[in-house]
Amino acid sequence: MKFFIDTANLDEIAEAKSWGCLAGVTTNPSLYAKTGGKLADFEGHMSKIAELCAGLPVSAEATSEDAEAMVAEGRRLAALAPNIVVKLPICEAGLAATRTLADEGVRVNMTLVFSAPQALLAANAGARYISPFVGRFDDLGEDGVSQLADVIACIGNYDWSGKNVDDTVEIIAASIRTPHHVTQAALLGADIATVPFAALKKCVHHPLTDRGLEGFKADWNKVIAGA
Ligand code: E4P
Repeated sequence: MKFFIDTANLDEIAEAKSWGCLAGVTTNPSLYAKTGGKLADFEGHMSKIAELCAGLPVSAEATSEDAEAMVAEGRRLAALAPNIVVKLPICEAGLAATRTLADEGVRVNMTLVFSAPQALLAANAGARYISPFVGRFDDLGEDGVSQLADVIACIGNYDWSGKNVDDTVEIIAASIRTPHHVTQAALLGADIATVPFAALKKCVHHPLTDRGLEGFKADWNKVIAGA
C-alpha cells in the first residue's frame, strides 16, 4: 500500500516527502482553507505542491457545481502540471464531468465516496482513483472499515481497462484518522492510504520504539564513558 499525505500545507508535505516514502498528495477545499490561502492564490498553491512533488500524483479539487463548469475547472487544474489529478465529488455532475475529462486523458480522483455503488459508478465514469472515506463514516457510529472493504472487493471484481487513461483504478482509503485505520486499509488491500500529517507521524512512532531508542542511547553513552 502506498502512502499519500492529506494536506495542503507545504511544510508538512516537504517534511513527509523528506522521509522517502511518500507517493502522492491529496488536498480538498477545507485543507486549502486551513492554510489561510486566498482564492486568487489557489491555482498557484496547487502548482507549488505539484512542483514540490514532481512525478507524484497531486489531487486538486474542483469546486464548481455543474458538469460543464467542473470540466472547465478540471481542464484548468490539469493544465497546471502533468502530475495534477482532478478531484471531483461523486454526484451526477461529478460523474458526467469525470467521463468527459477521462476521455481527454485527465486523471480524476472521485471523492466523498461512502458506498460500493458510488465507487462502481465512479469507476465506470472513468475515475482513475476512488476515495472512500473511513473516519467520517465512523463518526456516524457506522463502520468505515467495512464500507472500505465493500468498495475494495467490488472494484477488485472487475477489469477497468479502457475506462481511463491508465486502464486501472486505485482505491485511496481516505478520511484516515489513526494508525489502526492504516493497518485495516492495508489488510483489506487498499492501493493507497491518504493520511493527515499528524496521523502519519503517529504511524512513524511507537512508544516501544521511542523507549528502545532511549535505552540504546543510554547504554551507548556508558560504552563511550568507559572508553
Ligand atoms: C480525501 O482525499 C479527503 O481529503 C480526506 O481524506 C478528508 O478527510 P477528513 O474526514 O479528515 O476531512
